[in-house]
Amino acid sequence: RFSKSVNLPLAGKKVVVTAGPTRERIDPVRYISNFSSGKMGYAMAEAAVKLGASTVLISGPVDLPKPSGVRLLKVESAAEMLEAVLAEYEDASIVIKSAAVADYRPKEAHAQKMKKKEGDSSISLERTTDILKTLGAQKKNQILIGFAAETNDAVAYGQSKLDSKNLDYIIVNDVTDPGGGFGSDTNVVTLLTKTGKTFPFEAMLKSQLAAALLEKIIEEERTTVH
Ligand code: CTP
Ligand code: CA
Repeated sequence: RFSKSVNLPLAGKKVVVTAGPTRERIDPVRYISNFSSGKMGYAMAEAAVKLGASTVLISGPVDLPKPSGVRLLKVESAAEMLEAVLAEYEDASIVIKSAAVADYRPKEAHAQKMKKKEGDSSISLERTTDILKTLGAQKKNQILIGFAAETNDAVAYGQSKLDSKNLDYIIVNDVTDPGGGFGSDTNVVTLLTKTGKTFPFEAMLKSQLAAALLEKIIEEERTTVH
């Protein structure tokens, strides 16, 4: 499935990477989001470019420069990210879902700033669409790679996400590990494959880790009979 080119094994392949958090609007001045920095996703996109892929980076709001060689599509909400990813899915060879998509959004986004009032207040939330699960359900030949951000029982939770979202690989991230996590330049992860293999990676720079992960996945794809 992959070019024999040692240097550019992803030449001629389209890789779609999502990165960063999403923002779900409450009103014109407030939103719900998370601490994702986008660094791991941007590193994955840069690694894909270096391996020769035609790379599309679909990014939530982050404070990072555009990596050279990628086509950058900026989005804000989970709904916008879903639409952008679906539009790029059909001819993609690999989809890497590094984004920390918000699981909930306010039921209504108020058109005007909400005013404070006496006593308690609450916002009604509803679930966002699970983008990765949607991709898994309509997968043809694409290789689907997910991330799992966990604080406990990371590998077990990662395994269940690999299965339930119909993924080929999942990169499990214990965000409490002192060697990595949100905002850090380094990361410690475990790669799980749908064929039942487990590859732990040592703490390293996110840029190095991204290259090492793609290299391992390409090697697996070359040696695994589907
Ligand atoms: N994901 C997604 N769409 C969502 C939520 C998650 O595509 N609405 C993707 C993420 O990009 C990631 C993977 O699913 O690749 C796992 O995300 P994670 O937040 O770890 O898992 P969830 O399935 O959302 O479960 P939970 O947050 O409850 O652990
Ligand atoms: Ca989640």
